[in-house]
Amino acid sequence: MDRYLVVGNPVAHSLSPEIHARFAASLGEQLTYERLLVPAGEFAAHMRRFFDAGGRGANVTLPFKLDAFEFASKASDRARLAGAANFLANRDGVIEADNTDGAGLVADLSRNHGVQLRGARIVILGAGGAARGVVAPLLAQNPEWIVIANRTRDRAAELAQVFASQASVRACALEEAPGDATVLVNATSTSTKGEPLALRDGVLHAKLFAYDMAYGEGAKPFLARARAAGAKTADGLGMLVEQAAESYFLWRGRRPETAPVLAALRQRA
Ligand code: ATR
Repeated sequence: MDRYLVVGNPVAHSLSPEIHARFAASLGEQLTYERLLVPAGEFAAHMRRFFDAGGRGANVTLPFKLDAFEFASKASDRARLAGAANFLANRDGVIEADNTDGAGLVADLSRNHGVQLRGARIVILGAGGAARGVVAPLLAQNPEWIVIANRTRDRAAELAQVFASQASVRACALEEAPGDATVLVNATSTSTKGEPLALRDGVLHAKLFAYDMAYGEGAKPFLARARAAGAKTADGLGMLVEQAAESYFLWRGRRPETAPVLAALRQRA
């Protein structure tokens, strides 16, 4: 039977095994998808063992997305632009890296929430690993502009620099985030860590679609604040399911339906 993993530290909370089990059942396919907790510094050794034993693929979560990118012997453009991979596939012994996070975000925003990305004015809060994965796929949707706003301005500038040839991407400090965006994505780790996010008045407003890449309890304070300012909102559960569907498709060539899986996860939350 084809074997897959989600690898991280911690990983016990990961919903990926359930999501992929539901995808496989819906398509009538047989596979195993397990969690693997890997100690810091041991990523490559564990992955080598898994793939040598015929493992077909892995999703990779924190803190190993950079290790995954480096482990692979081939990488997609979107993984290279992100400098990180959440996806590894074993193609006849060659390990390929990809990054399906951005595709997951784009699919969730546009398909599940009906958000118009072409011509959109997009603010991304944060410039860490989560932000890195989504800039290129958002840019590919032809927004009017993307502003990367980060607490440490230099880090935002460094990320924007990757897209320097595209005049529509620029960087600013968190407190300078513009107030005329149509879409705002919280890609900081504040929701996950339960920390406050310092935004100036006017950044959250009634014409905005505000999205938090986190989901569950952690995302609630930010989303409540955005709703209080009149914004429409969504958490990142849909992105999780959509990136999983993209991963499933890349591994197995069949695209599972996401709506029933998302509905089942929401019902339980
Ligand atoms: P991840 O992989 O989740 O993106 P990361 O690479 O550590 O994690 O990045 C965390 C991001 O959240 C960074 O953009 C960080 O800002 P800095 O670059 O200034 O560190 C941002 N962040 C973390 N805590 C924050 C806080 N309390 N307020 C604002 N931004 C915060």
